[in-house]
Amino acid sequence: MSIWTADERNAPSALFRAATAALAVGIFISDTATHEDIEVAVLYVAIVLMSARFLRTRGLMAVAAGCIGLTVISALLTPAPISTLTDVANTLITISAIIVTAFLVLQGQSADMRLQEERERLRHMEEDLAHVNRVSTLGELAASLSHELKQPITAAITNANTCLRWLKRDQPDIEEASAAATRIVQDGNRAADIMDRLRSFYTKDTPVARELVDVNDLIREMLTLLRSEANRYAIPMRTDLGFELSRVSADRVQLQQVLMNLMLNGIEAMRDTGGELIVRSGPRDKGQLLVSVSDTGVGLPADKADHIFNAFFTTKSQGSGMGLAISRSIVESHGGTLWAASNPGRGATFHFTLPAAADSDPG
Ligand SMILES: Nc1ncnc2c1ncn2[C@@H]1O[C@H](COP(=O)(O)OP(=O)(O)O)[C@@H](O)[C@H]1O
Ligand SMILES: [Mg+2]
Repeated sequence: MSIWTADERNAPSALFRAATAALAVGIFISDTATHEDIEVAVLYVAIVLMSARFLRTRGLMAVAAGCIGLTVISALLTPAPISTLTDVANTLITISAIIVTAFLVLQGQSADMRLQEERERLRHMEEDLAHVNRVSTLGELAASLSHELKQPITAAITNANTCLRWLKRDQPDIEEASAAATRIVQDGNRAADIMDRLRSFYTKDTPVARELVDVNDLIREMLTLLRSEANRYAIPMRTDLGFELSRVSADRVQLQQVLMNLMLNGIEAMRDTGGELIVRSGPRDKGQLLVSVSDTGVGLPADKADHIFNAFFTTKSQGSGMGLAISRSIVESHGGTLWAASNPGRGATFHFTLPAAADSDPG
């Protein structure tokens, strides 16, 4: 933050303001009292600079004008009034110094304001992009999801038919019928759970909420969500989860997004070649949790491995190139790191670390 910013965090105390005013009075008195040879008035430049810490355009212009006014008044009141050309020149130099300083300060302030606006705009853009990415990955998941939902719904219909059959008997079997009805309730709940898990994913304005998240639970959830997508290409998915330090303080939805991006990328890399997706978790040094997503697919693009995390970099005809860029910014905003490595054999592995939560021991 530069000294020009007059935002609230940086706003100087009332004491600072009072000191500025007192200094102005001091300069005025000594300028008026001293002989014209000593041009105390140049110190008004300091008043302009100090005011810049708590004043914006108009206020600052008023201060500069005030300083010029005081310079002129002093010049007129000084014991030996303006007589020589030097006196006039001195006063003019002081006035120019005040004007130039005020001008530079104002320029600095408006540049700073523009920078802040630009930063704000970028932040909004980043949020929008993250949302678009989420929605488009969701688009890829639509087929997978309808399959996921169809299962509990089909089961519910079967159980409802069973229930009806028990009831329509000459001797209705209430016990069997209510057992079937209980299963219908379970099926309904299962469908509702799937919907709930997704709702948080596509709404944009879910506030950034850090909570204690068990990354292993999250991995298992993503496995369920992506199962049919993986089945579509006959890609088996496997996990190797460590149980130490598996909890982190994180935004659950954002972490879901990271895992989903990495796992979908892995599945996409094996679309044509087949292979196996493995998700690992385990402790790393210094209280860090390490999560790795490995595939045995086409491998990182040759010579371009540095670029894959850049926004819009994609080697896919339908790709957005946003998945890894967004994933990296999410991981970094959680205090972790995300990187990629080629596997010794086939394919690639994406690793990310997260600081484990303090009370991360299981139990
Ligand atoms: N598991 C992977 N194996 C090989 N290349 C990958 C893998 N994951 C990502 N990449 C490369 O990184 C690029 C950027 O990925 P990403 O940011 O997710 O965007 P997109 O998936 O839309 O292309 C991909 O187009 C691909 O070239
Ligand atoms: Mg992707």
